[in-house]
Amino acid sequence: MKKLWMMCLSLGLTITAAQAKDVFITIGSDAIDLSQKSLMASKAIMQSKEISILKINESEIESLSHLMHEKFNRCGGFIVHESEAEAVEVLENNSLRAFAKKANFLNYSITEGDRVQNMVSKVNEFSIREMILKLSSYQNRYYKAQTGVDSQEYVKATWEKLANSRSDVSVELYQHSGWPQPSVIMTVEGSSKKDEVVVIGGHGDSIAGFWGRERARAPGADDNASGIATITEIIRVMMDNGYKPQRTIKFMSYAAEEVGLLGSKAIANEFKSNKTNVVGVVQFDMTNHKGSANLDIVFMSDFTNEAHTKFMGALIDTYVAGVNWGYSKCGYGCSDHASWHNAGYPASMPFESTMGDINNDIHTKNDTIDAPGSMGTADHAEKFARLGVAYLVEMGK
Ligand code: BES
Ligand code: ZN
Repeated sequence: MKKLWMMCLSLGLTITAAQAKDVFITIGSDAIDLSQKSLMASKAIMQSKEISILKINESEIESLSHLMHEKFNRCGGFIVHESEAEAVEVLENNSLRAFAKKANFLNYSITEGDRVQNMVSKVNEFSIREMILKLSSYQNRYYKAQTGVDSQEYVKATWEKLANSRSDVSVELYQHSGWPQPSVIMTVEGSSKKDEVVVIGGHGDSIAGFWGRERARAPGADDNASGIATITEIIRVMMDNGYKPQRTIKFMSYAAEEVGLLGSKAIANEFKSNKTNVVGVVQFDMTNHKGSANLDIVFMSDFTNEAHTKFMGALIDTYVAGVNWGYSKCGYGCSDHASWHNAGYPASMPFESTMGDINNDIHTKNDTIDAPGSMGTADHAEKFARLGVAYLVEMGK
């Protein structure tokens, strides 16, 4: 115990009273009362449910560190910030993420029985397989490579063809500053609630190797041709059935996910600054490797919204016969759903296996449809496309 306390202190600063200035800290809101009572010069600037900002004198950092350890058994338990603005940013971002996880954005309900069943039955393994094969035939889909631009243009052309000149549908390349690969966005304008937006996305890029990535072979059949092929199948069924949603649906193939979620981050942040009302986001990233014997679809429970994910589980139970589902965790912002989550939106990530049963071929030249786990078919991805169609129709209403 004593040792830990010494360790905590050694991380701190030694400051004489003469130099001391005021600083801003973020600290757990549960500790705010105690720290305010015990410190001489502390003032609460801003509070959220989880985190508060305190202005304290720099000379009191040591005693606060001591206090936190004694009373809360936390080593530190607060962050010292350069400026008030930096502290505010941390607080706002953390409470935004708590909101994105816990809030009920909609009264998600299941009401469209016959229409959903009919459309779900149209999902076809073969067309998903064809799209996976086509996308994995590019040398790579790296965000800085010409083939990464070409593959996104192919996605755009494919989606445009499926839309068959419908006047409520448009497909655009979303250009990013900083790298050549665009994102692709298909918008189906809602007939009556057009300001409520549903996003169905996945990443269009692929990656392998450490050097010469522009030229390296990166088929990315599972990661993530499978997700884009799943989305393409949802679009195909939607258009074949002439389905017109009441809410606006946006299908997205993000650029540059593999290098830090860059494409989705730019888009989600733009939606956030435009105050776009996104009522649901689904991320399809890796859908065609059956890695877990007893589970077909596994929902990531971190960087996602609880109510929205529960709703997706209920969609499987109602409409996707014979599919077992459960939960797992990435443990970090592992894909584009995290960009939406961090921007305060409700997201889910239905994934192909638990994290323990992960596909070891991703990010190598061996990520092909013939690898074990897929064995040359899109059987696993087909389950995700059926879920996606059910989601589209129940959210589109
Ligand atoms: N498809 C993966 C994410 C993934 C991998 C989810 C394994 C679950 C299990 C994604 O394309 C990816 O590779 N993400 C990066 C993180 C990103 C922030 C660069 C990763 O996981 O390293
Ligand atoms: Zn990846």
